[in-house]
Amino acid sequence: MEQIQFNIKERKTKVILPETLGFGKFFTDHMFEMDYNQTDGWHNPVIRSVEDLPVHPASMFIHYGQAVFEGLKAFRQDSGDIVIFRPDKHFERLNNSSRRICIPEIDIDFVIDALKELINIEKDWIPTKHGESLYIRPFIFGADAFLGVKPAKEYKLILLLSPVGAYYPEGFKPVKILVTDEYVRAVRKGLGDCKTPANYAASLLAGQEAVKKGFTQVLWLDGVEQKYIEEVGTMNIFINLKNEIVTPKLNGSILPGVTRRSVIEILKDWNMKIVERDITIDEVVNAYDKGNLIGVFGTGTAAIISSVGWLTYKNKQMIFNNGKPGELDLKLFNELTSLHYGMKNDTHNWLTLVEQKEVVVS
Ligand SMILES: Cc1ncc(COP(=O)(O)O)c(C=O)c1O
Repeated sequence: MEQIQFNIKERKTKVILPETLGFGKFFTDHMFEMDYNQTDGWHNPVIRSVEDLPVHPASMFIHYGQAVFEGLKAFRQDSGDIVIFRPDKHFERLNNSSRRICIPEIDIDFVIDALKELINIEKDWIPTKHGESLYIRPFIFGADAFLGVKPAKEYKLILLLSPVGAYYPEGFKPVKILVTDEYVRAVRKGLGDCKTPANYAASLLAGQEAVKKGFTQVLWLDGVEQKYIEEVGTMNIFINLKNEIVTPKLNGSILPGVTRRSVIEILKDWNMKIVERDITIDEVVNAYDKGNLIGVFGTGTAAIISSVGWLTYKNKQMIFNNGKPGELDLKLFNELTSLHYGMKNDTHNWLTLVEQKEVVVS
């Protein structure tokens, strides 16, 4: 692979982060970009300023949705170290998503090294308070101008960085969830286990209608029978039953979450019974009626852990822990965030250190 070109602009002023960062609203000065064509493969890796992209109106991703993306985070620890949470797993998933929709795979080690270089250049953009982080958005899209359904011949990979605030600025707060049997997010053998825009487009109307009814998000049932639990919003889901914790087994229509995988490993460390299996919404309702359901929570990079306080399915309303965060949910949230900010040892080797070095401005 070629050497990365550095096209870095010197900042005349210091980076001053806004008091309220929110999510996905601010971007750092530079991004990483790399192109693909059939002759050169992935080539032309460059770190350069974030600018609008020249996009031809016939660019294939706009018409046929041939694009994949990821979402991961870097944290500034109390010691000053900068770490990225499980980048290998995120880029493996990016390649898995790419394979499914005919996008050429990337060299994971090369791209992680490029990401480390980019983060080092943009390190002043990393917020320091606990809960805050640098959100990383890698994405690839089919770029050539052509009308007609077939895989593109040219692609662009971009790594974009966005400083983000704490997901729970007012403390860990449970969410209100509506089980939708009117819409489905994905079907088995379709695209559900890929992080590709189509799945998010498919989810918008259900989410919007749920918000209008006073809910935070929807719980997705399977796309065939609307019987089995799949995901909650854009998170994986865990059902905390009295004698076991269940998360739906990966079946092709569920995104294999990196947080999901980490939570499973932590629960195993704690000697708790965690089972990956199919679970129906009826089983959840029955367990609730029998007093065997302790709680429900979601897992994902953005929120880390999201406690479900209220769950509504048809005319049935379930409330957990009087709408307060579940004990296990909070314990998991604290475990993962302690690890992110360096208050716990990284026994699993989940953190990748970004070496901090002098930035050479061209
Ligand atoms: C549909 C969907 N499910 C689950 C997740 C959780 O995945 P992760 O824990 O890797 O962020 C995400 C977020 O990426 C998502 O978009």
